[in-house]
Amino acid sequence: MIKKVGIIGAGTMGSGIAQVASTADCKVKLFDLNQNALDKAKASLEKIMTRLVEKGRVTSEDKNRIQNNISYVNSLKELSDSDMTIEAIVENLDIKKRVFQELESYVSADCIIASNTSSLSIASIASSLDKPERCVGIHFFNPAPLMKLVEVIPAIQTSVDVLKISEETIKSWKKVVAVAKDTPGFIVNRVARPFYGEALRIYEEGIADFATIDHAMKTLGGFRMGPFELMDFIGNDVNYTVTETVFTAFYFDPRYKPAFTQKRFAEAGYLGRKSGRGYYNYAEGAVKPEP
Ligand code: NAI
Repeated sequence: MIKKVGIIGAGTMGSGIAQVASTADCKVKLFDLNQNALDKAKASLEKIMTRLVEKGRVTSEDKNRIQNNISYVNSLKELSDSDMTIEAIVENLDIKKRVFQELESYVSADCIIASNTSSLSIASIASSLDKPERCVGIHFFNPAPLMKLVEVIPAIQTSVDVLKISEETIKSWKKVVAVAKDTPGFIVNRVARPFYGEALRIYEEGIADFATIDHAMKTLGGFRMGPFELMDFIGNDVNYTVTETVFTAFYFDPRYKPAFTQKRFAEAGYLGRKSGRGYYNYAEGAVKPEP
């Protein structure tokens, strides 16, 4: 039974996964190097839970229980008593490997060490560990508390037991598990690449602007969000990096070629909702363009 969960990275995904695990009654330690990120995660959970109480979706006792299950820590060492850790830091293989090595020196021999990576190889993340068989991909979608699907990705090193416990744990957190092979982008992010890529190419060819493409995909295509809204929601930095990784990992297959438009937006800091500006302007009072 997984009772104590350590989450590494208190950004968009880490804070959402912490909420999921604490709602399922796990004791969660949420770690980030950046105190601001921890403060933001705590404040954001307070806001979310208050709204859920107002809407009658949870009781105030549940709110207190869920919030009290999470402690916010600024040292990786604090995760030493975890049964399972889930890493959700920057999508960079070298940094993840370094963090995993350090983490392994603190946790017990049977602690499961998972990564929420969107696109990196689980086999290569696992290779940084003395016990690579304890490593697995556990890939949530954004926003983690709302999205039902979680991909569980065994690397070639992952033990049968670690895969089984991971699947059972995620199911007990009321999620639907899809076991995916350790290939670039797994299932969903691979299918999604052409969705973003083709939308960016349509824009770059001057066929339509962002709002028109989004409008077409929502009203005609039946999607809940258009591709540009979705990229702004995910974060252009995160989304661009995933595309670049999948493109490289598939030996530069042109189907996954990244777009300069997105690269420039990410470089300019137009990351989307989280920075207040992306393909759309999210500043207070800004009017979203209509198609
Ligand atoms: P984010 O940028 O919102 O948060 C990352 C957090 O990690 C930041 O708070 C940062 O301070 C912290 N961090 C960075 N390096 C660290 C280190 N060495 N030690 C401790 N904390 C560190 O990123 P986001 O969007 O939450 O993504 C995290 C991971 O989840 C990435 O691997 C990404 O590919 C994956 N992912 C992202 C999704 C999304 O829609 N944003 C969806 C599914 C997976």
